[in-house]
Amino acid sequence: MDLFEHQAKELFAEYGVPVPTGKVAHTPQEARAIAAELFAAGSSKVVVKAQVKTGGRGKAGGVKLADTADEAQALAGQILGMDIKGHTVHKVLIEEGSAIAQEYYFSFLLDRANRTFLSICSVEGGVEIEEVPHDRLGLVPISPLTGVDRAKAREIAEAGRLPEEALDGAAELIERLWAVFTDEDATLVEVNPLILTADGQVKALDGKVSLDDNAAFRQEHDKLEDKAAADPLEAAAKARDLNYVKLDGSVGIIGNGAGLVMSTLDVVSYAGEGLGDGQRPANFLDIGGGASAEVMADSLEIVLSDRDVTSVFVNVFGGITACDAVANGIVAAYKLLADRGESVNRPLVVRLDGNNAELGRKILSDAGLAGVQQVDTMDDAARRAAELAAAGA
Ligand SMILES: Nc1ncnc2c1ncn2[C@@H]1O[C@H](COP(=O)(O)OP(=O)(O)OP(=O)(O)O)[C@@H](O)[C@H]1O
Ligand SMILES: [Mg+2]
Repeated sequence: MDLFEHQAKELFAEYGVPVPTGKVAHTPQEARAIAAELFAAGSSKVVVKAQVKTGGRGKAGGVKLADTADEAQALAGQILGMDIKGHTVHKVLIEEGSAIAQEYYFSFLLDRANRTFLSICSVEGGVEIEEVPHDRLGLVPISPLTGVDRAKAREIAEAGRLPEEALDGAAELIERLWAVFTDEDATLVEVNPLILTADGQVKALDGKVSLDDNAAFRQEHDKLEDKAAADPLEAAAKARDLNYVKLDGSVGIIGNGAGLVMSTLDVVSYAGEGLGDGQRPANFLDIGGGASAEVMADSLEIVLSDRDVTSVFVNVFGGITACDAVANGIVAAYKLLADRGESVNRPLVVRLDGNNAELGRKILSDAGLAGVQQVDTMDDAARRAAELAAAGA
């Protein structure tokens, strides 16, 4: 899970990392009130910053300076509702303007290729890190066993060629960011820019944090989730322990196992390409190892709740969960859905292969479910599903 800048800064503040004072506003009026407070507290400028989970906000016009509360209100009015790389701005961060002497770059990240943590520091900050020449980046690998103490933090700042007057402040801040990185189970903590102010303080002026969802069980990160942005069906699937992802086509896809599901997406996209206006996957749902009536009913219910779906492709390769169990699951799911007052009102293409495929196919054909067609191979089934989607669109 990625955090908004304001969430990252709130987290930084909890760990004693210096950040500008600021608050989030959802309306221009709120922005004005916060700006007025900041001016009253002695700020000479305030900054209005779009809160979206994507980079390059400044370039897109999502970061603006204001000299008065009126101006902050007007700028918030412009920035709220703005589209930045496909992300709509629903909130802005209003914070005190800092007197910037220099801008640096700093990050901790997981270096998967080298199976370690890595810090990147550079005296050239505030610009996109991809554009900083390699020889201007200080890369310091970090052993998870020894971590980052003050001396290591100073070594990192020196590797980034930060000037003498910034080293103490930067080392203290980097040591605290290491606590954020490890205690919060982050995979990325990035500060761009890290600044030296005119009066010699080092501060985090921006913050980007990615948290490791695999560690969610031992964290209390639920409150950081962006519930408004979450797809309601993805949330419903998650609540039932199903992996569902919304896409933008017309064919609903249910499969077992991530590998099979990914290749199903490919064959459906490929089959759909030849069909005039192009049919593509509308979503996918991975039932994993489960094929009980309950799991199948929940899966069908979720996939069919997506109004973009005009046909469904159930692609199962029987393994430990054999095809007869999957077939029984589908038959029972139809009954369950009927009991819930719902029906499967769009065509279902089923391809069963692998363990007990023959038996599974027989169970399905004997059940004679309305709208269900069986196709033996994955390619043919994908083509049929795409054709039915085109016909039903
Ligand atoms: N509180 C502040 N006071 C003064 N200047 C600021 C402040 N916040 C941001 N700025 C200026 O705006 C620039 C861009 O801000 P920031 O890094 O937060 O956004 P961005 O780089 O455009 O976004 P992203 O990092 O998501 O690509 C900074 O490099 C800095 O010069
Ligand atoms: Mg930035």
